[in-house]
Amino acid sequence: MTSMNKKTVEDINVASKRVLVRCDFNVPMKDGEITDDKRIREALKTIKYLVDNNARVILCSHMGRPKGEFNMKYSLAPVAKRLSELLGKEVVLASDVIGPDAKAKAAALKDGELMLIENVRFHKEEEKNDPDFSKELASMAEIYVNDAFGTAHRAHASTAGVADYLPAVCGYLIQKEISIMGGALADPKRPFVAILGGAKVSDKIGVINNLIEKVDTLIIGGGMAYTFMKALGHQIGDSLLEADKLELSKELMAKAEAKGVRFLIPVDNRAGDKYDPDCNFMVVNSDEIPDGWMGLDIGEQTEKLFADAIKNAGTVVWNGPMGVSEWERFASGTRAVATAVAESGAISIIGGGDSAAAIEKLGFADKMTHISTGGGASLEFLEGLELPGIACLQDK
Ligand code: 3PG
Repeated sequence: MTSMNKKTVEDINVASKRVLVRCDFNVPMKDGEITDDKRIREALKTIKYLVDNNARVILCSHMGRPKGEFNMKYSLAPVAKRLSELLGKEVVLASDVIGPDAKAKAAALKDGELMLIENVRFHKEEEKNDPDFSKELASMAEIYVNDAFGTAHRAHASTAGVADYLPAVCGYLIQKEISIMGGALADPKRPFVAILGGAKVSDKIGVINNLIEKVDTLIIGGGMAYTFMKALGHQIGDSLLEADKLELSKELMAKAEAKGVRFLIPVDNRAGDKYDPDCNFMVVNSDEIPDGWMGLDIGEQTEKLFADAIKNAGTVVWNGPMGVSEWERFASGTRAVATAVAESGAISIIGGGDSAAAIEKLGFADKMTHISTGGGASLEFLEGLELPGIACLQDK
């Protein structure tokens, strides 16, 4: 379990110091344009604090998976542009990472100035957490600040290794993520309801296991629900099935029962005759999905069942959509659950890239207490795992 008591930017003197700040600027892009700048906006508080307190700020991040090579398709240039707009001052981008341009620009920084170095994954040593690469990164600065919650589950040079060579503290975003999510897990306002969806049971085993220990109700929707239905002996037609997870699904349901956790899976489904937004459509009970049909969203009775379980919740943690929510005909379940969460008045925490994207798209983002900037990172956090990018920081 990740310690939540980490030193922050406020616990260290940053004035006139060169501060290397790891952000997660791995934002979704389409045709060279940023389609969602939430991760950039969420980084602003720390950046502004450092600038206002006269630090000399060297920002860094990865973008995509360029496999250790300089590939300008993954350049941080669009991020530098967006950051400049948001901050109202130019953020200069170095043309390299630990090369002469980055080093010269870092050395020339004056108090309150900031810059961005290129994508740290242009060097294969980044993902290998290579100590020499970490040392090179560290050599440009005197303090390390990690604010990349979305990448905190990776033990890479810029997310963890560099902390071996510099005093290391967290930024406001990491502080917020761990205090809200950690607080909910450690001392939830009850009833505590977890909603898990998405395609695969295998992605969520650890989360289910950990949450069963803590929640009052566990709701399962999305593609992963069909493996649980099959484990109960239901006829699931051509719905998504992870046959090698049937036994485990039974064990998880037995564990929930033993712990007195209410375990809810869909009782009806919106189904299609193929995985296609224009497929033929029907609503079918969970124990009678015919061959040739697959469940692609929860049905109306299930929406009511789930909404009823959510309405009195004190805390809701939600990860993963209820159906193929990017297709309008199969977005109803996710919308119904989002509505129920929004209306419940519960502390609502949304983790995971897909569920966050679905909630933004459906227009519920401002109704939630917290939407995590982490995809994999928030899942690992909910699993109770220690995140290397946080573990490496100084304790208070
Ligand atoms: C994410 O988007 O989940 C993070 O930025 C981590 O990216 P990665 O999965 O490529 O390590």
